[in-house]
Amino acid sequence: MKVDVLLGLQWGDEGKGKIVDVLTPQYNIIGRFQGGPNAGHTLEFENIKHVLHTIPSGIFHDGVINVVGNGVVIDPVILKQEIDKLVAMNVDVNKKMYVSKKAHLILPTHRLIDAASEKTKGKEKIGSTLKGIGPTYMDKTGRNGLRVGDIFENNFKEKYQALVEKHKQILKFHEYEYNLTELEPAFFEGVETIKGLTVIDSEHYLNNELKNNKKILAEGAQGTLLDVDFGSYPFVTSSNTTTAGTCTGLGIAPNKIGEVFGIFKAYCTRVGSGPFPTELDNEVGEEIRKAGFEFGATTGRPRRCGWIDLPALKYAIMINGVTQLCMMKADVLDGFDTIKICTHYIINGEKVDYMPYDIVSQKVEPVYVERKGWKTDLTQLSSIDEIPTELNDYIEFLEKELNVPITIVSVGPNRKQTLLRQNILV
Ligand code: GDP
Ligand code: IMO
Ligand code: MG
Repeated sequence: MKVDVLLGLQWGDEGKGKIVDVLTPQYNIIGRFQGGPNAGHTLEFENIKHVLHTIPSGIFHDGVINVVGNGVVIDPVILKQEIDKLVAMNVDVNKKMYVSKKAHLILPTHRLIDAASEKTKGKEKIGSTLKGIGPTYMDKTGRNGLRVGDIFENNFKEKYQALVEKHKQILKFHEYEYNLTELEPAFFEGVETIKGLTVIDSEHYLNNELKNNKKILAEGAQGTLLDVDFGSYPFVTSSNTTTAGTCTGLGIAPNKIGEVFGIFKAYCTRVGSGPFPTELDNEVGEEIRKAGFEFGATTGRPRRCGWIDLPALKYAIMINGVTQLCMMKADVLDGFDTIKICTHYIINGEKVDYMPYDIVSQKVEPVYVERKGWKTDLTQLSSIDEIPTELNDYIEFLEKELNVPITIVSVGPNRKQTLLRQNILV
C-alpha cells in the first residue's frame, strides 16, 4: 500500500478540510504532517460547521485513526480546546487520535516571540497568525525544541525552564512586554491533557499499517505558495507544505507516496502579507470575498482575493507531483458575467508562463484570457452531468493547461456539495 496525499496548491484555505472529510471513508488512517494551529480546516455536514486546527479532518468518522505526525507543531493550549469541543459533541478523540512523540511543542514564549518579531518588522511583517509557528520551527531546526515525548520525562519542567530563559533573552532584544505567569497555567493544563492521549512512535505505526495493507491519507496544511522553500519567501510559513513534507512529517519513504490530490479554488485568495500577482484590490475582489465568505478560519482576517493564477498552479503541480486536481468553490463565481484566468506573467517586458525566482521585489503583471460565466446556482447541483456548459468549458480549459485531471468539483461548503467527474483513483 501507498500513502495518498492531499494538499493545497495556492496560499492555503483551498478547502482541504472539506475534501479530507469527504475522502475519509475510503481510508483507515488520516495523518497531518506539518504546520500547527496556524491552520483552520472547516468541515460542514448535517447541521454542523466545525473548524479544526491541529486535529486531522477525519476525526468525525468512526473506525478511522487520525495521526498528528512528527512534522506538526502542537500548542497544548489549543489542542486541549479542540479536544474539549469535540468531546462535547460526543466525539471520542482519545480513541480516534494518536500523537507522535516527536512532534514539537509550541510554548507560550514561542507565541510571544512571534508577536514580538512581527512588531519589530513593522510594515515588513509576514502577517503571521501569531500562533508561534515560526519560533517553534526555529527551535526545532536550531536543536533547542521540546517534543511531546519530553513531557513524560521527570526533568520536563527544567527543560521547559531552560528554553524559556533563552526566549526571555530574545524578548528582551525585541523590547517586548509580556506577562508569562498569566499564560503558563493553561500550557501546563494542556500538557496534562496530552499525557492522557495515545502518544506513539507514529513513523513505526504508519509503516506497519502500510504493511498491513491499511490505506493512509496525508492531510496538508497551508498551501504550496506558503512553503518555506518554494513559496513567496520570506512571506511564507515555516514548514514544507509540499508532498516532500509528507515524507519528513510522517516518516514515509518517497517511494511509498501514491496519489497526490492537489486542491485549488476556482479563483485565488491569500491572507497575510506578501506578493499576489492576480490580486483584485477593487470591487471585483470585494465581490469574490463576499460571495466566498473569505475571512480567515483561524484569525477572522479578511482574505485578499483575485483571479486564478495558472503559472503559480503549474509550479505547485510540478513541485508536488500532483496526480489529481480538486477544484473548490466554483459556486462563488456563479454571479460573474466574465471570469478571468491568468495564463502568463509579464516581467521586465517579457511574457513568461512560469513562476520566477522573485515575485516579491519584481513587478509581475498578469496576462489574462477571459471565459464566459455560467450564471447558474451551482450549489443546488447533485451530479456532474448537470453542470452548465460554461463551467464545463472552464474546467476543460484548466485541465488542458495544467495537464492533470480535475476529478472533484466542489460547489458548496457542505460534504454533499461535491461533484465527482470520474472515479477517484484511490
Ligand atoms: P482549508 O484551510 O483548506 O481547510 O480551508 P478553510 O476551511 O480555511 O477555508 C475554506 C472555506 O470555504 C471554508 O469556510 C469552507 O467551509 C468553505 N468551502 C469549502 N468548499 C467550498 C465550496 O465548494 N463552496 C463554498 N462556497 N465554500 C466552500
Ligand atoms: P490552512 O491550513 C492561509 C499564512 C499567514 C501568514 C503566513 C505565515 O488553513 O490553509 P504563520 O502563522 O504560519 O507563521 O504565518 O502564512 N498562513 C495561512 N494562510 N491558511 C493557512 O492554513 C495558513 N497558515 C498560515 O496568514 O501570511
Ligand atoms: Mg484554512
